[in-house]
Amino acid sequence: MIFRLRIPFQSSLPLLLLLLASFSSRSESSCRDGCDLAIASYFVTSEASNLTYVASFFNQVPAAVLPYNSLSGQDSIITGSRLNISFPCDCISGEYLGHKFSYTTQTGDTYDIIASDRYANLTTADQLAATNTYSPNQIPDGVAINVTINCSCGDARVSRVYGLFETYPLRPGENLSSVAAGFNLSSQTSLLQQYNPGKDFNAGNGIVFIPTRDPNGSYRPIQSSRNAGLSGGAIAGIIIGVVFLLIAAAFLYFGVYMKKKAKKTLLPSTSDYHSTPLRHAITDKDSTLAAQGGAGATVTGFSVEKSVEFSLEELAKATNDFSMANKIGQGGFGAVYYAELRGEKAAIKKMDMEASREFLAELQVLTHVHHLNLVRLIGYCIEGSLCVVYEYIENGNLSQHLRGSSRDPLPWSSRVQIALDSARGLEYIHEHTVPVYIHRDIKSANILIDKNLRAKVADFGLTKLTEVGGGTLQTRLVGTFGYMPPEYAQLGEVSPKVDVFAFGVVLYELISAKDAIIKSSSLMESQGLVSLFENALSQPDATEQLRELIDPRLGDNYPIDSVLKVAQLAMACTQENPHLRPSMRSIVVALMTLSSSTDEWDLYANQSMLNLMSGR
Ligand SMILES: Nc1ncnc2c1ncn2[C@@H]1O[C@H](COP(=O)(O)OP(=O)(O)OP(=O)(O)O)[C@@H](O)[C@H]1O
Ligand SMILES: *[C@@H]1O[C@H](CO)[C@@H](O)[C@H](O)[C@H]1NC(C)=O
Ligand SMILES: *[C@@H]1O[C@H](CO)[C@@H](O)[C@H](O)[C@H]1NC(C)=O
Ligand SMILES: *[C@@H]1O[C@H](CO)[C@@H](O)[C@H](O)[C@H]1NC(C)=O
Ligand SMILES: *[C@@H]1O[C@H](CO)[C@@H](O)[C@H](O)[C@H]1NC(C)=O
Ligand SMILES: *[C@@H]1O[C@H](CO)[C@@H](O)[C@H](O)[C@H]1NC(C)=O
Ligand SMILES: *[C@@H]1O[C@H](CO)[C@@H](O)[C@H](O)[C@H]1NC(C)=O
Ligand SMILES: *[C@@H]1O[C@H](CO)[C@@H](O)[C@H](O)[C@H]1NC(C)=O
Ligand SMILES: *[C@@H]1O[C@H](CO)[C@@H](O)[C@H](O)[C@H]1NC(C)=O
Repeated sequence: MIFRLRIPFQSSLPLLLLLLASFSSRSESSCRDGCDLAIASYFVTSEASNLTYVASFFNQVPAAVLPYNSLSGQDSIITGSRLNISFPCDCISGEYLGHKFSYTTQTGDTYDIIASDRYANLTTADQLAATNTYSPNQIPDGVAINVTINCSCGDARVSRVYGLFETYPLRPGENLSSVAAGFNLSSQTSLLQQYNPGKDFNAGNGIVFIPTRDPNGSYRPIQSSRNAGLSGGAIAGIIIGVVFLLIAAAFLYFGVYMKKKAKKTLLPSTSDYHSTPLRHAITDKDSTLAAQGGAGATVTGFSVEKSVEFSLEELAKATNDFSMANKIGQGGFGAVYYAELRGEKAAIKKMDMEASREFLAELQVLTHVHHLNLVRLIGYCIEGSLCVVYEYIENGNLSQHLRGSSRDPLPWSSRVQIALDSARGLEYIHEHTVPVYIHRDIKSANILIDKNLRAKVADFGLTKLTEVGGGTLQTRLVGTFGYMPPEYAQLGEVSPKVDVFAFGVVLYELISAKDAIIKSSSLMESQGLVSLFENALSQPDATEQLRELIDPRLGDNYPIDSVLKVAQLAMACTQENPHLRPSMRSIVVALMTLSSSTDEWDLYANQSMLNLMSGR
């Protein structure tokens, strides 16, 4: 039962194929992802008498339109001028970038009238006919129809500087050079041509995509390379991914092969099992990797090579008969006790259940997984109820550090370090152990802090306790509310991206010191940290909104750039689509860059971080 084809491999394979497919057969118009913001340039005719009316076409209220325009008053709009309307730019059915608005038809509307009069040529009659079922001559009154407006998120092959674009329908008499002049890009007609390839604007119509500035006057750099050709970073990411998957496939192949062979030789003893050449090869690799992690991974006093089986008597003695005085925590699986065992400090988790044969085998494997950022499993006891013995981590858990009143506030640099430490621990179980593990219960209470304020991930592998043999696809839901991604909470789909999501929530906790779910005092209205941050970060003044959410105990002692980067990383981790979430490996890279040089964080590093994140 130990070697099993596990979900992460199975689910990353199609993803990889998808990546390769899109890599080899991408066409000019295909896309994989959009961007948060695009601007529509709306030419005001005499018919559009007030802002409320215009905003309604874009399913917005006037207040949402104001920040992108310099208007004297809400309802004074000038005929013959242009309004900027902001909207999210989505990848529509993987084919092109645009956004679908809903328009309610008025008497006498035809697709031509809707396109040219209502939407100021931001769309065309042809496009309307293509996205709606009504025939052009028979459009009923008062029905909702789809209005798609095209947009651009930039093109990494042209420039990374421009990531915000205006969808600008030409008016009769305008051409590319006159528009370039209007946008103070006079010398840059060729730039405009590059962003609008293959289009002829001499007839004075058609849509031009124009690089434009944020409301604060600066250009917004390109968000990611996803919809704009694959950059070097992304390609490197893919290559690393392919190589890794091939290696993983080889290990899995041998794993399955070994398992078959092992079965033939009739229930080998576990020590036989662990002395197979494969297991040795891997433990050796593990220990070198752990050693590279910075410090010795060996805990003195306990033999690392052998998994230790303790007697209940010994554990009882070490914990004063599991006395209340020794109890340090209570989790979903059982209570945790402080112990002094063979002269060492230990934490003993006493479960409310007995160990199955199968889980015993898992425990033995777990005792062989060593990493600086994982709480080490020292041994176990299976007399009566199951006890698991861990190395003792003296400084409490992350939740206590963030929210406990008796603790000093963690400085920002420690928070980044804790994020990086936990990311490393998770990356290790996702990518370097055989079999790989999915934690499934990442949360701040499961991240333990040592005396140097370094973090270790606790409890991994225990979710297997709940698996009753057989296939792993349909597994019981374990996890904690507020940390579970939608595909897991709703469909029970398990992949490493479940941990990535939960890790994103922990990042938000590190920033805000708020609980994953903020319970409102009055009603049943509680809000998740994820939506709280998403709302803030989607505002035009995201940075200011973010400041409101930062842990007040930090005072002013934080570099806002660094906080913003962590928030953006968290947002990437908590995306709804698990395939778009970065891997733990990319997260480690991103956090390493962040922790080593918050100051030297320039545009280039920023971009390579995003490339890496989208690369796999
Ligand atoms: N190795 C350890 N060293 C020090 N304290 C620990 C150790 N393991 C657990 N604890 C303490 O005990 C608490 C409870 O741990 P446990 O992992 O059982 O529960 P949990 O994480 O709250 O919930 P769950 O069982 O759902 O994971 C932890 O939050 C931590 O404070
Ligand atoms: C805005 O314009 C529409 C259409 O011209 C009109 O029906 C509506 O009454 C106007 N609203 C205000 C507040 O002027
Ligand atoms: C839309 O395009 C048509 C044809 O080019 C033009 O007559 C009309 O004035 C345009 N409308 C707007 C609002 O620009
Ligand atoms: C929007 O993009 C689609 C796909 O590239 C294209 O068919 C359509 O003509 C475009 N619409 C406009 C108004 O340019
Ligand atoms: C709008 O688009 C959706 C799907 O993209 C489609 O189901 C719906 O029928 C369309 N609306 C009309 C009026 O055709
Ligand atoms: C573009 O328009 C300007 C005036 O709007 C005109 O002077 C110029 O000749 C036009 N250029 C081209 C290439 O048509
Ligand atoms: C246009 O650009 C020039 C330099 O390229 C700058 O000096 C000028 O202030 C800009 N004008 C506006 C209105 O942005
Ligand atoms: C809004 O439109 C004006 C022209 O009407 C333009 O100069 C300005 O840059 C636009 N602002 C944004 C944020 O796009
Ligand atoms: C302008 O605002 C954007 C976000 O809206 C932000 O990323 C950028 O750093 C701001 N630039 C300046 C100079 O404040």
